[in-house]
Amino acid sequence: MWRYPQVLAHRGGGTLAPENTMAGLLRGMRAGFRAIEYDVMLARDGVPVVMHDPFLGRTVPGSGHVFDYDALELAAMDAGGWFGREYEGETVPLFVEFAQFCKSHGVWMNIELKPAPGHDIETGGTVARIAAAMFAGELERAPLLSSFSMDALLAAYEVAPQLPRACLVNELPPDWERCARAVDAVAIHVNHRHLTPAQARAVKAAGFGLFCYTVNEPARAAELLGWGVDAFCTDRIDLIGPEFATRVK
Ligand code: G3P
Ligand code: MG
Repeated sequence: MWRYPQVLAHRGGGTLAPENTMAGLLRGMRAGFRAIEYDVMLARDGVPVVMHDPFLGRTVPGSGHVFDYDALELAAMDAGGWFGREYEGETVPLFVEFAQFCKSHGVWMNIELKPAPGHDIETGGTVARIAAAMFAGELERAPLLSSFSMDALLAAYEVAPQLPRACLVNELPPDWERCARAVDAVAIHVNHRHLTPAQARAVKAAGFGLFCYTVNEPARAAELLGWGVDAFCTDRIDLIGPEFATRVK
């Protein structure tokens, strides 16, 4: 059974503010969202930062890989100017600070573990350890950890089995149920473009939560909910609000 929010702002504030930044998070919160998805990876010094791409160049100026820099170097980089001049000076958030802000403002988190190539185990273990300590004694508010990386999920499972996990897939693979059980996942997160109604029924019949990314059209969101999809994230927080799922049901 899905016990989590049903509509999440993707990467903090969708596409209305620079992704994976405090400005994005605040934009989502201004739109009423108290549930977000965001991406976390490790810097060179093993400190997790909030970032989607494993390399610089798109959302932060520069070149090379995120893993070539220490966290404080990344935290000094401009992660907002690419989006608009008014966001210049917005920085790459440190995961601990970002998560702590979410926690203290009642924003529920789906943390996507995005390991730099070759750092899957370390990423899953580190993020899970920090999240578990942050939510010790408050497990009902704990974040859901999702990843395309089975190794990252397994590491998270070993370090903090008490935190919920979800397998993230582009397309549901034939062995999806085996993978989900291997990491004791509570849910499957799938690209809605590849999901079929029969697959949605199968995931639900097996007792897993079903989450779709990234749903940006209200009609499509309503259709997916009609298929039994429990929840989804959206870039279009202006078109699809946090109460969307309760309104269409
Ligand atoms: O977690 C769902 C979604 O964010 C996965 O894709 O590339 O947007 O991180 P991506
Ligand atoms: Mg993501």
